[in-house]
Amino acid sequence: MAENITPALQMRNITKQFPGVRALDGVSLEVMPGEVHALLGENGAGKSTLMKILAGAQPLDTGEILIHGQTVHIDSPQKAMSLGISIIYQEFNLAPSLSVAENIFLGREPRSIIPGMIDFKTLYRNAQEQIDRLRVRMDVHTPVAQLSVAQQQMVEVAKATSRKSSIIIMDEPSAPLTDHELEALFDLIKRLKNEGVSIIYISHRLEEVFEICDRVTIMRDGRHIYTGEVEGLTRDEIVRYMVGRELTEAIPKETAPIGQPALTVEGITRKGVLHNISFELKHGEIVGLAGLVGSGRTETARAIFGADPIDSGSIKVDGSTVRIRSPRDAIKNGIGLVTEDRKAQGLVLPMPIKQNTTLTNLPLISRLGFLKMGKERKVAEQYRTSLNIKTPSVEQAVKNLSGGNQQKVVLSKWLYSGSRILIFDEPTRGIDVGAKSEIYKLMNSLAAEGCAILMISSELPEILGMSDRILVMHEGSLAGELSREEATQEKIMHLATGGE
Ligand SMILES: Nc1ncnc2c1ncn2[C@@H]1O[C@H](COP(=O)(O)OP(=O)(O)OP(=O)(O)O)[C@@H](O)[C@H]1O
Ligand SMILES: [Mg+2]
Repeated sequence: MAENITPALQMRNITKQFPGVRALDGVSLEVMPGEVHALLGENGAGKSTLMKILAGAQPLDTGEILIHGQTVHIDSPQKAMSLGISIIYQEFNLAPSLSVAENIFLGREPRSIIPGMIDFKTLYRNAQEQIDRLRVRMDVHTPVAQLSVAQQQMVEVAKATSRKSSIIIMDEPSAPLTDHELEALFDLIKRLKNEGVSIIYISHRLEEVFEICDRVTIMRDGRHIYTGEVEGLTRDEIVRYMVGRELTEAIPKETAPIGQPALTVEGITRKGVLHNISFELKHGEIVGLAGLVGSGRTETARAIFGADPIDSGSIKVDGSTVRIRSPRDAIKNGIGLVTEDRKAQGLVLPMPIKQNTTLTNLPLISRLGFLKMGKERKVAEQYRTSLNIKTPSVEQAVKNLSGGNQQKVVLSKWLYSGSRILIFDEPTRGIDVGAKSEIYKLMNSLAAEGCAILMISSELPEILGMSDRILVMHEGSLAGELSREEATQEKIMHLATGGE
């Protein structure tokens, strides 16, 4: 008699208006106890906004929320917590200088018998229990700043699941995770589900929806489009509800004429991190850099870009040795790095889109030292159209964009930078299915114009689909190289896991 069970959550006719954007237009969502409910939609559809309202991080304009059948007024994050609602935010919310343990129990640390003191022994023990429950290895004394993005995400998960919650919201928890951590997360979700916890799961990876979710709600442009069982739905149907039109998901690789070496990396070594990395990148070429997370792919990119110091090795641009000791040196030599961590390395969040776009290429924008405001605006408008950035205006502060649309601004910034050598670190992470192929097309046209592209990606179909050649890393070394013709998922994984 499923009909008689009271839903854990009912959100009815929720509306939310931001200046120039109707983020939510009468959206309803119902989640049952012990249900894993997917919330899907393109970048900017309104998913995070709906969840922030539920978590008390933002007020609603109109609408009604019921928890276990009771009408509630959620006017603060504390109120949401007291109602048993936890959220893992899409943008990390951790205090970088505090330890893993302190972050997990921030604001509810166990107290010592001495007034005002924290019982650190219990704190660390309880925190380690939470981390162990996730089946990942991590020392809870470590400051969060020293963790990888994937590990930080697992701390977020532990923080949310360590509370006694009956509703847990996960806003793109899987984006930075490796296979191992993803498995651990799914395992945890299954256990929570068995305990009757409801989970709202947001992701742009549809495979995950089929693997872990019971029902799905799909939004488009701030509206509710569809709710139903996952079973019986096809991927194509979901995509059609999301984008509102037919969409082919093919990866449109085009081959460009391949020219002279643009970037030559010789013997780059950083003690304990990178061992003797050498490779070449030619004009017109897209080279994939594959490997497990932690294999040194991002570190290689950062070393080339001058973001991390190297102990030995050299870099040539167009055949001449260059000294790169800072990102500024790299940019001067025509090297750009599109990072996976847009918050830390990519964007100035309080600044408008248009300024972020032109930030790295001021010479093109300013003449005689004056910024040409009209030009800046025009450039930003172009990328807004070509990448389909959802915003009422390019004057909008980047912090007000949805996660995926922020990632598109990072991309436009580097596309416009005039860099001839571009390193993309997980370029389509958090990007919806519709916009992905736009990004691939842009990469093709950059290669056709003679740019050399190094693409780091954990998505093997993307690596296989877009690369002319594939380099595979393992434990800080290059484990091998595969041509486009010979490469397969199996061969890449074999090299990535230390096979001969
Ligand atoms: N604080 C804000 N001020 C102005 N506009 C906002 C604000 N927060 C969100 N928006 C806008 O509301 C819309 C919905 O954004 P939201 O973050 O909910 O999208 P999303 O579905 O989570 O997208 P993504 O998949 O990219 O994370 C977007 O157009 C966004 O720019
Ligand atoms: Mg979002």
